[in-house]
Amino acid sequence: MCGIVAIVGTRPVSERLVDALKRLEYRGYDSAGVATIHDGQLDRRRAEGKLFNLETKLAGDPLPGLIGIAHTRWATHGAPTENNAHPHFTDGVAVVHNGIIENFSEIKDTLIADGATFSTQTDTEVVAQLLAKLRRDGLDGREAMQAMLRSVTGAYALAVLFADTPGTILAARSGPPLAVGYGEQEMFLGSDAIALAPFTNEITYLNDGDWAVLTADGVDILDHDGNPVTRPRQVSIAAAYMVDKGNHRHFMEKEIYEQPEVISHALGHYVDFTENRVSAAASAIDFARIPSLAISACGTAYLAGLIGKYWFERYARLPVEIDVASEFRYRDIPLSPDAAALFISQSGETADTLASLRYCKDLGLTIGAVVNASESTIARSSDAVFPILAGPEIGVASTKAFTCQLAVLAALAVGAGRARGTISIEEERVLVRHLAEMPRIMASVLNAIQPKMESLARELAKCQDAIYLGRGTSFPLAMEGALKLKEISYIHAEGYAAGELKHGPIALIDENMPVIVIAPHDRFFEKTISNMQEVAARGGRIIFITDERGAAASKLETMSTIVLPNVDELIAPMIFSLPIQLLAYHTAVFMGTDVDQPRNLAKSVTVE
Ligand code: G6P
Repeated sequence: MCGIVAIVGTRPVSERLVDALKRLEYRGYDSAGVATIHDGQLDRRRAEGKLFNLETKLAGDPLPGLIGIAHTRWATHGAPTENNAHPHFTDGVAVVHNGIIENFSEIKDTLIADGATFSTQTDTEVVAQLLAKLRRDGLDGREAMQAMLRSVTGAYALAVLFADTPGTILAARSGPPLAVGYGEQEMFLGSDAIALAPFTNEITYLNDGDWAVLTADGVDILDHDGNPVTRPRQVSIAAAYMVDKGNHRHFMEKEIYEQPEVISHALGHYVDFTENRVSAAASAIDFARIPSLAISACGTAYLAGLIGKYWFERYARLPVEIDVASEFRYRDIPLSPDAAALFISQSGETADTLASLRYCKDLGLTIGAVVNASESTIARSSDAVFPILAGPEIGVASTKAFTCQLAVLAALAVGAGRARGTISIEEERVLVRHLAEMPRIMASVLNAIQPKMESLARELAKCQDAIYLGRGTSFPLAMEGALKLKEISYIHAEGYAAGELKHGPIALIDENMPVIVIAPHDRFFEKTISNMQEVAARGGRIIFITDERGAAASKLETMSTIVLPNVDELIAPMIFSLPIQLLAYHTAVFMGTDVDQPRNLAKSVTVE
């Protein structure tokens, strides 16, 4: 969602705050702002749109000060205008906020009755106004913070400055993450460790309900009741990651091409390639003993989970209940405490996924996290962590995290099959050998299909809509293809189970409708071809993504056929992800959209 950074120290802060915001832009990018205290006064610069606009403003009108708070926004309450941009100021108080204050309208009414006038449409302004009122009532900064935190409900990460205490930052966390960083005569605050990486690798994550008082000399951390608490100080690995585009035009392109390498890292963690066995890392959950598995996630991670469901059911004969986290958490699903639950999340911070996790934890299930950010809240709240080791993913549309999630889920499912005795040692060896081949096949596919996907994208960019079809694991992949296309090119796209075509979507087929059919030559192939026939009979323009056997077996005329190598059913979803990613990517490039930061989206969604 939004990103927060703050610095208190002995050197000017505004330029460094903006640099740190750049590393948080993935969380939101519709406006940004920075506030400092200098000459005993609060001062701020804010700008609508990307950070570049704020930088331009600061270049013309610099902001001095040795203490500051900064914010990059993903609008929830109030349009993304400069006026609604954070920091919000009221009467000597400055506030930046990530999350949603759920009872803001109640508090606002009380404050208005008390004479306050509001100047923005944001929920955040109630925090500033409430703090200002509490200070006017005679409370000092800490007392006001404590009293404000008792009044607000919802999800928040907050950083606050008071003009009359120019050496102190107050911070609070309930939901969205907040990390405190330690420097030399300087302290830092950030929404994640990556934001703080150039400043320090020594960090402490605030727990839910914690609040903190930072000065140049250190930090006091307090719990919700105001009692001092100690939270572990840890060395973050975030600084080890290079966050640049290399020779690529976009992070998304770079991340697509990184897949062979990162998948081999991910697999190396879960698979012993000398023995061709799944390694102990995959058995952090005792799959042999659980009666069922629940899986929950959002967006692309959910679609990875859906493919995982096919694998756990097929290879481990393990019943899987899966739903998007925003539904899962409210469905009152009858879950056995003996079961395990897997939560899949690139960021490890997605609010709905975290809420589903806590729901399952309260029910007593064993919790596993399939995450990219291994220091994240979801990871820290889990009994077993399965890192996907994809490295930082910056493009908002997920690519390498998706295939790494798949690779990890595939290894877990094979491991679960062995543990439950539903596959033999020999079958495990064969499947692991297929996994081992994957990075090499991915590299050669990426190399081979790129020109074709680019020329096909030129055609797709002229369309208004697109339909993706698939069966078996190609069905969630069809949904992922459609999601990828709509996220970054803004072309309306839907993914369907091929067998559902005749139950509705077929009404949309005409000579203008591109239909992307994902059909490896697997046990569903003939059936999918029949559905393709139905499309062809109605003049639909078929883009056929298949393998060598499939291409040889189909006689249908298509607008284009993309032929991938024949691969085992287990690894097909990872290999077939590549053409759908490249198709979406090149289409978006032709459309001239902001590929890495598409409109209205954010990479990390820490509100419900
Ligand atoms: C956002 C992103 C998606 C992502 C989803 C879940 O909507 O734009 O790309 O799949 O959140 O994020 P997570 O970090 O939990 O995987």
